[in-house]
Amino acid sequence: MGLKNELLRGVDLFSALDDTQLDVMAAMVIEKSFRKGEIILHEDDDSSQSLFIIAKGEVKVVLTAEDGREAILASLKEGEFFGEMSLLDGEPRSATVRAVEDSRLLTIRREEFLNVMRKQPDLSLTLLGEMSRRLRKSNRQISSLALMRVYGRVAATLLQLMEERGIRTKTKDGKSIIIVKDKPTQQFIADMSGTTRETVSRVLNFFQKKGYIVLDGKDLLILHEEELKT
Ligand code: CMP
Repeated sequence: MGLKNELLRGVDLFSALDDTQLDVMAAMVIEKSFRKGEIILHEDDDSSQSLFIIAKGEVKVVLTAEDGREAILASLKEGEFFGEMSLLDGEPRSATVRAVEDSRLLTIRREEFLNVMRKQPDLSLTLLGEMSRRLRKSNRQISSLALMRVYGRVAATLLQLMEERGIRTKTKDGKSIIIVKDKPTQQFIADMSGTTRETVSRVLNFFQKKGYIVLDGKDLLILHEEELKT
């Protein structure tokens, strides 16, 4: 058995293939090496629609914003694949993929991979299973980002109330705190923060549990202004 066969045998994506099909696949793959830091795929590139399998090393999938900042979508290791999205929908690459270590990759051309998929439908099921896992993970990232933004907005509203009506004072043990008397309703805070009353209630509870604020009857006490600013 050749080295490529052996590598392909350890790849989850190909678990539905029998020995003969793995041999066919092994004859189709081309090996490519990339140095640490080298870009393998460019976002928006439409020059290739091959699939890549990581035989050795590690890559990062990133999106670059206009100001040059990078959002990391995923990190993929030995035995994992990428490039399936353009292969399937024919669109340009959806993200940039960069080697984070010296890496050895196996590539398969679009038409050849599609032919194997047509002959072995279970391969499509494995591929869809992995794509579902990735989508779930991205959904979780979106939800936590959205939540973080809401936390930030409610914190900004509390800081604004503090600037407008807060009274700086000291506790008996000398800690400096800020009191906002006759605190506004949760609905008012929600309207100021562009969210719902229920979310404000959750966020205020969270801040209280963390010890940043205390909801004391009619008053709001801010104990850790600096934490609300971060
Ligand atoms: P493709 O769009 O062809 O090229 C970039 C590749 O990055 C893409 O296929 C996927 O293989 C991979 N990719 C894009 N978005 C994600 C994500 N959210 N999670 C994991 N991998 C991704």
